[in-house]
Amino acid sequence: MSLSTLSLTVFLGVAVRLAACSTDKCASLGAQILVPNSTILMHNYFLNGTTIDLPGTVESCGGPNLKANATANLCRLVFTITTSPSSEIQLEAWLPDSHNWNGKVLATGNGGIGGCIDYATMQNGVGLGFASFGTNSGHNGSIGYDFFLNQPEVINDFGHRAIHIEAGFSKELVHQYYGARATKTYYAGCSTGGRQGFQTAHLYPEDFDGMLLGSPGVDWLRVVASKGILARRIGWPYLNSSAYVRPEQWPAIVEAQIREFDSLDGVTDGIIDEPTKHRFDPESLVCGTGLLNSSRCLSPQQVESVRRAYEPIVSASGQIVYPAFELGSKTDVFSENQENGTARLSYTILEDFWRGAVFNNTDWTPEDFNESDMDFAVSVNPGQVNAAEKDLSSFYRRGGKIISYHGRNDETVTSALSEQFFTGVQAVLNITLQDMHSFYRLFFLPGMHHCSGGLSPWSIGNAQKYPYDKTLLDSKHNALMALVNWVENGTAPEIIIGTKYENDIIGGSITAQRTYCSYPMVSRWDGIGDGNLATSWECA
Ligand SMILES: *[C@@H]1O[C@H](CO)[C@@H](O)[C@H](O)[C@H]1NC(C)=O
Ligand SMILES: *[C@@H]1O[C@H](CO)[C@@H](O)[C@H](O)[C@H]1NC(C)=O
Ligand SMILES: *[C@@H]1O[C@H](CO)[C@@H](O)[C@H](O)[C@H]1NC(C)=O
Ligand SMILES: *[C@@H]1O[C@H](CO)[C@@H](O)[C@H](O)[C@H]1NC(C)=O
Ligand SMILES: *[C@@H]1O[C@H](CO)[C@@H](O)[C@H](O)[C@H]1NC(C)=O
Ligand SMILES: *[C@@H]1O[C@H](CO)[C@@H](O)[C@H](O)[C@H]1NC(C)=O
Ligand SMILES: *[C@@H]1O[C@H](CO)[C@@H](O)[C@H](O)[C@H]1NC(C)=O
Ligand SMILES: *[C@@H]1O[C@H](CO)[C@@H](O)[C@H](O)[C@H]1NC(C)=O
Repeated sequence: MSLSTLSLTVFLGVAVRLAACSTDKCASLGAQILVPNSTILMHNYFLNGTTIDLPGTVESCGGPNLKANATANLCRLVFTITTSPSSEIQLEAWLPDSHNWNGKVLATGNGGIGGCIDYATMQNGVGLGFASFGTNSGHNGSIGYDFFLNQPEVINDFGHRAIHIEAGFSKELVHQYYGARATKTYYAGCSTGGRQGFQTAHLYPEDFDGMLLGSPGVDWLRVVASKGILARRIGWPYLNSSAYVRPEQWPAIVEAQIREFDSLDGVTDGIIDEPTKHRFDPESLVCGTGLLNSSRCLSPQQVESVRRAYEPIVSASGQIVYPAFELGSKTDVFSENQENGTARLSYTILEDFWRGAVFNNTDWTPEDFNESDMDFAVSVNPGQVNAAEKDLSSFYRRGGKIISYHGRNDETVTSALSEQFFTGVQAVLNITLQDMHSFYRLFFLPGMHHCSGGLSPWSIGNAQKYPYDKTLLDSKHNALMALVNWVENGTAPEIIIGTKYENDIIGGSITAQRTYCSYPMVSRWDGIGDGNLATSWECA
């Protein structure tokens, strides 16, 4: 036997012993974990590279054939935690072996109307050595309303409680499992996950040391309501009215915006870098100008509808309460609202949440939805779900850090909301921009859709996107690493470099990169270099 074969055998022997030892620990310690109000449902040990079947997952969360990858040797523990006499949350812990544990916790949030565990971020987290956690936020599923009907405590879990419970539970569980406390506790989420994060920073500032908050749906009720209000502004549900703008007309309208505004940022790349800087006049698309043919062009009433679709949302009393829809973004969320010629909102969250949580009324339908329905929901604020509170002073004072990012081509949560939220927090805290940058940094990604996707180099280690590119796991290219570097090394991120892969396959061959900047700085082409190189973009 050669020396190298011998050492390999020894090495494998050790690895197998360690795995066996961890399996025992997962079974014995896992089963003994004692956290108040919790019941353990499952403890299983998985070897790195094996598949984790998730057959308990409901259909709207991708089940029952959903699978995940064990990205490390890990102990998977599944718990139910009672949160009130009439509610419970599902919580999962994926724990790497002690010698692979980086000493930290990574907790995750949800998307949309909640109810699906964020396995994508958990897989990334455990692969990096984090003890990683996920929750269903108190109900199962991303479609439906029955779980909220007459269930105020379930709404409380989704609204504001689940992530707080997850934070406390994760710290306690890690202490019991590893016999040591986590050195740092992180959170990563996008969309509703971003909302949950900002809300936790406001209500429970001690929960996390660092938070990565993508495309955050703060002011969540208005984010959702805006889809219904815009649908009404373009004539819905009267599909035959002369003011209704049909689904097939919208791609032509959006193309016209891109034609008009794309090049104004110095680069013609199909991307409107700063959509809030422009005003779109649909008059040029009226029938007769020849710009659009007879099946796409707009009648005078439709011109008026399109104009109104790009105006900000106002309350019943006429106050502007939510920013305008993003120019250059796909409009389906408010314009694709028919099925077989019957009016039907495609953005199901509106009907589900108003039916189940706002009105507690199975008969309610959104055909008459208007500003009064939005204002009513905001005044009730079921489960404190809205999360528009800008007072992050306690989080700021305790030294917490937030990295937020937002695509500028976001059809679900208009990116102007992040701009307003950032400046709103600054106003409430009454601190300088320098002080803001000492704890909260916002990065806009022109061209990125909601949370991920789009024409631009959008991959920055986005929350809810698996896998990470293992060759770009550094604080310049991966936002979670940038956050860790900030929290633990004190180095604030000045830039983040985004990457575009061929066919958007993360980790595949790289076709472009771009430098993104800490708001209010913006990413500008230097006017000379190759636009596909990060070095050709600078912060202005
Ligand atoms: C959610 O689904 C899990 C199975 O994955 C089940 O154990 C749990 O009871 C369900 N929770 C609710 C609130 O229905
Ligand atoms: C919800 O509606 C049901 C049926 O009308 C009613 O019995 C119940 O009290 C309502 N619950 C709440 C919280 O309003
Ligand atoms: C629209 O008009 C068509 C025929 O012109 C009719 O079949 C359809 O029911 C109408 N739809 C609505 C929603 O009024
Ligand atoms: C009108 O233009 C659209 C988009 O360019 C095209 O798909 C459609 O076939 C055209 N229709 C007619 C009647 O020319
Ligand atoms: C909304 O509709 C209701 C009737 O369904 C009406 O009473 C209310 O005035 C409307 N609000 C606005 C702002 O139009
Ligand atoms: C529309 O038609 C499709 C195909 O015939 C059918 O599966 C679907 O249920 C219909 N939707 C509605 C709302 O009737
Ligand atoms: C904000 O801070 C400035 C400078 O520290 C101070 O002069 C001012 O009174 C503060 N404003 C409020 C509303 O607290
Ligand atoms: C923190 O600093 C150390 C020492 O410079 C470095 O090796 C490490 O990569 C940094 N952490 C992150 C997440 O960048």
